[in-house]
Amino acid sequence: MSKVLEREDRQAKFLGELQALVKEIENSTEDLKVVAFMEYTAPPETVKPKVIKFSKVLELLRKLAERNDVQEGVSKVMFYSPTTGRSRGLTPSMMAGFQYIKPGVATKPHSHNMASIYLVVKGKGYSIIDGKRYDWEQGDVFVVPANAVHSHVNTGEEEAILFDVTDSGLLENLGVLEFKED
Ligand SMILES: [Fe+2]
Repeated sequence: MSKVLEREDRQAKFLGELQALVKEIENSTEDLKVVAFMEYTAPPETVKPKVIKFSKVLELLRKLAERNDVQEGVSKVMFYSPTTGRSRGLTPSMMAGFQYIKPGVATKPHSHNMASIYLVVKGKGYSIIDGKRYDWEQGDVFVVPANAVHSHVNTGEEEAILFDVTDSGLLENLGVLEFKED
């Protein structure tokens, strides 16, 4: 097993009297750093294993759906680990969350360049994905590919709850995550 290198900023030590020249280049414009030698950055923090209990999340989803802040009868709760920094993922590449839809309600059509995999936790209905209808019920899994316009409809008598995992963290970290809504 190879040894993991201790990370450190070795630039100052190696550059010696050349530090002044490097500073001059950096100060010649805005927002620039010069790396003349391998510069080790701080190691990323590690995401901790965890269990997110459903009962309290469900209570939050129901209360948010009553407030109609996002859309009448719809709520969404997502999770991320602060250790992932800019990714805002539950892991550095993935985010996960629940969507709650009251009976008879359809979510607003939108698209994004993250892809999503959904599990139907409760209820039944369908999704319109790029103009085509896909019916689902409890326990089913469906996929919304990147950039597909999608809307979810609850056709049942009870609340519908969807759980989804996306690759938003990866795109967010690259600075290319994009949402579209008419
Ligand atoms: Fe979406």
